[in-house]
Amino acid sequence: MALVDFLQQLEDLAVEAVTAFESATDADSLEAARVEFVGAKSGRLKAAQKGMGAVDKADRRAAGIQFNEIKTRIDAAIQAATERVASGGASAAGKPAEIFDPTLPGQRPRLGHLHPITQTIEELKDIMGRLGFSVADGPEIEDEHHNFEALNIPSDHPARDPLENFYIAAAQKSNGKPLLLRSQTSTVQIRVMENTPPPVRIISLGRVYRPDTADATHYPMFHQIEGLLIDKQVTMADLKSVLRLFATSYLGHDVHIRFRPSFFPFTEPSVEADMSWGDDWIEFGGAGMVDPNVLRAVGYDPEEVSGFAFGLGIERLCMRRHGVTDIREFYKNDVRFLHQF
Ligand code: PHE
Repeated sequence: MALVDFLQQLEDLAVEAVTAFESATDADSLEAARVEFVGAKSGRLKAAQKGMGAVDKADRRAAGIQFNEIKTRIDAAIQAATERVASGGASAAGKPAEIFDPTLPGQRPRLGHLHPITQTIEELKDIMGRLGFSVADGPEIEDEHHNFEALNIPSDHPARDPLENFYIAAAQKSNGKPLLLRSQTSTVQIRVMENTPPPVRIISLGRVYRPDTADATHYPMFHQIEGLLIDKQVTMADLKSVLRLFATSYLGHDVHIRFRPSFFPFTEPSVEADMSWGDDWIEFGGAGMVDPNVLRAVGYDPEEVSGFAFGLGIERLCMRRHGVTDIREFYKNDVRFLHQF
């Protein structure tokens, strides 16, 4: 046989073999191709090797060199195909590998869930929604008008001390109007009343900020739920009923509410509301009848309408419900704590 014919045969064989290995999609088709091309007894490479004997003697050396070369090419194709099939990848021909072993244990995806505080917020919205309160939102960066002035908090009031608030220095410089992170959700009372004529029946839930040192019961950021109801002839009895229904719904058993006299610049009279807890009373939050000065500041007529407001700590409610003893647990982002809710 002439050398050129033999070399052509080798080349055709190599192309055919490489194509076969590249399109093998699983261990079975790979093995079949292996037997066909490089099988020890009747593989086609073996046959080609035998065919070398028919090449003219003078050309045998050149034929042998070429034979070794295509053997290396085919071996490399087998190696690549073996690795690809073992790792479950798609074949070079683009067909998806059909390796699926249903007996292997699965990989369970880790499912997250809402943060306990978010869960509490959703539940509180739900309860108050059933009492006819809709949800209002307000900004966390506030001006002094909404955080203090319209709430009847004068400039010499200790609550306005820069050391008791997170003032934002950059904002102050840009337009001369001091801005701060809101220290209470009562800001939203003002924002809603400024934009809505009475009657009003809203709650607002969100973050508030105070520069407190973190300990078991304090954190520089926490959440409040604010309630506001304005209508004709609203009384403290309405306030007490709403708080009692609210606490009873949240804690799931009959809860009594007790009022202790207190002071807030934006309510008159003002109370600390406690709720019964076994034989104890625990502090629930601040509340009172909206001060006439506040009603006037938003353009309401205090002779026409009256109303109540309350502000409660959301973390405290959530901690009570679940027996959490340290507020810092909520904000450590430790899934071992969080996944329990
Ligand atoms: N804003 C008050 C506080 O943060 C709570 C409060 C709200 C009191 C509404 C009375 C009425 O302490």
